[in-house]
Amino acid sequence: MPRNILACFQAIHVILLLAATIPLRLNARQLGRHDKFDYCAVSCRAHGASLTDFGGVGDGTTSNTKAFQAAVDYLSQFAAFGGSMLFVPPGKWLTGSFNLTSHFTLFLDKNAVLLASQDESEWAVIEPLPSYGRGRDTEGGRYISLIFGTNLTDVIITGDNGTIDGQGESWWNKFHKGELQYTRPYLIEIMFSENIQISNLTLLNSPSWNVHPIYSSNVIVQGLTILAPVTSPNTDGINPDSCTNTRIEDCYIVSGDDCIAVKSGWDEYGIAFGMPTKQLVIRRLTCISPFSAVIALGSEMSGGIEDVRAEDILAINSESGVRIKTAVGRGGYVKDIYVRGMTMKTMKWAFWMTGNYGSHPDNNYDPNALPVIQNINYRDMVAENVTMAARLEGIPGDPFTGICISNVTIELAKKAKKVIWNCTDVEGVSSGVVPQPCAALPDQGSGYITACNFPEESLAIDNVEIQTCSYRRKYPLSNDVVNHL
Ligand SMILES: *[C@@H]1O[C@H](CO)[C@@H](O)[C@H](O)[C@H]1NC(C)=O
Ligand SMILES: *[C@@H]1O[C@H](CO)[C@@H](O)[C@H](O)[C@H]1NC(C)=O
Ligand SMILES: *[C@@H]1O[C@H](CO)[C@@H](O)[C@H](O)[C@H]1NC(C)=O
Ligand SMILES: *[C@@H]1O[C@H](CO)[C@@H](O)[C@H](O)[C@H]1NC(C)=O
Ligand SMILES: *[C@@H]1O[C@H](CO)[C@@H](O)[C@H](O)[C@H]1NC(C)=O
Ligand SMILES: *[C@@H]1O[C@H](CO)[C@@H](O)[C@H](O)[C@H]1NC(C)=O
Ligand SMILES: *[C@@H]1O[C@H](CO)[C@@H](O)[C@H](O)[C@H]1NC(C)=O
Repeated sequence: MPRNILACFQAIHVILLLAATIPLRLNARQLGRHDKFDYCAVSCRAHGASLTDFGGVGDGTTSNTKAFQAAVDYLSQFAAFGGSMLFVPPGKWLTGSFNLTSHFTLFLDKNAVLLASQDESEWAVIEPLPSYGRGRDTEGGRYISLIFGTNLTDVIITGDNGTIDGQGESWWNKFHKGELQYTRPYLIEIMFSENIQISNLTLLNSPSWNVHPIYSSNVIVQGLTILAPVTSPNTDGINPDSCTNTRIEDCYIVSGDDCIAVKSGWDEYGIAFGMPTKQLVIRRLTCISPFSAVIALGSEMSGGIEDVRAEDILAINSESGVRIKTAVGRGGYVKDIYVRGMTMKTMKWAFWMTGNYGSHPDNNYDPNALPVIQNINYRDMVAENVTMAARLEGIPGDPFTGICISNVTIELAKKAKKVIWNCTDVEGVSSGVVPQPCAALPDQGSGYITACNFPEESLAIDNVEIQTCSYRRKYPLSNDVVNHL
């Protein structure tokens, strides 16, 4: 598609915005195709510069950590003057971690590859997350993420399908050999922030989790391709964690752990922090996760998880479709979960709930802190080549309740288990489910085939619109802009 008729979802907006952005004064220098183009984003920026304006070298061996940080520091001055965008041109840009700023867009050209440095001195060690109390791999601190932001507003990380390569193998080896000093870094982590867009990128070989928005709201994650070897440890795709109003759509994920893992803190630390993940939309996801779940809820869910709506999901060769993971001592809740329109091909378990996940941060968890699991709705699904339809294991004395499964057809594998539904300490109903579910989910009859709820009113995050924006490189900025500072 020619760039000047770029379609960003709302065709009418495209036309209006293009009309508004056409009159451009030309620079003395002729602008090339990397100096001026249109792209899609929730907010546009008045100012733009290229990483090469700050001494960046895209040769794959020179460290660009200082260039990135210098660029962000310089461009942060324009937060109150229409914001700014940093363009990363074609090339291989080796870099350690750098921090983002508010009213800022990082844009990767389609032939730009950020290569994460394997030099540990390029990664600051930061405090553990307050809702986790310790690092996930080790006690104490954790390496800061490759692209990190905290206490920000209006941040966009996007590109024309440009690549961020975490070069995770050395981290995976250290993890396996028990040689990690601190918890491994993530590729992208945004904390205590609002109005975030992460889109149109390819993320490769993260050292650990890929995308981790935490303690944040109004988050859009769109059009990501996330790839890691299926045997790589903890390479979760997207982990919304204690976030409100999040929309994840059009992503393709192949990884060594859960494709989407919804979280909200760990045992006594998560209970004390008390920040749920809620109002989460997941749609049009394709996932391959042979050893983990397509969508996991937990296991860290101590701040609560509620109002999750997932639809149009394709799962291929994955361990389980939707999995709820919790344990005695977690506290918190997982409630009001709605999933519909899921196609599953080659699965161990279509549905899995685990009440004895264990995995505690330390021995100070409260054994009386029982999680509440209720109102879990699964409908309109087909699955083929499935080893066991469902393994639903609640907690003795703390049953998982309000489970509703309707209009689901599961075709078993040739080598299926003898017991195809195994339900303990769970309560609910079913309708139009083949093969016949366990007695704990009594069949309500074919008249109830649409019984499981899926809310029809949209969430606020669905009303956030993507616009067509224009980038124009201009560095240094003209005197009239600088004089305003
Ligand atoms: C990035 O932010 C973190 C957390 O605020 C801080 O510890 C670190 O020093 C910052 N890095 C730079 C290069 O400013
Ligand atoms: C970031 O926000 C959190 C929560 O509001 C606050 O506790 C923390 O002090 C802030 N950090 C900075 C560096 O402003
Ligand atoms: C982005 O790049 C990845 C990796 O090359 C590719 O698999 C994917 O199809 C691309 N996505 C788009 C939308 O072009
Ligand atoms: C980003 O991806 C979306 C699809 O998710 C597509 O509609 C849009 O055109 C893409 N934008 C760019 C700049 O590639
Ligand atoms: C049952 O689910 C299928 C998708 O698997 C859907 O096409 C169909 O419309 C659903 N039936 C009802 C009655 O909702
Ligand atoms: C069914 O699943 C098994 C693994 O459980 C796999 O080896 C086989 O190729 C699958 N068959 C089909 C038709 O996908
Ligand atoms: C069913 O699940 C329970 C609880 O996890 C387990 O103890 C039991 O062995 C399972 N039964 C079968 C036949 O898999």
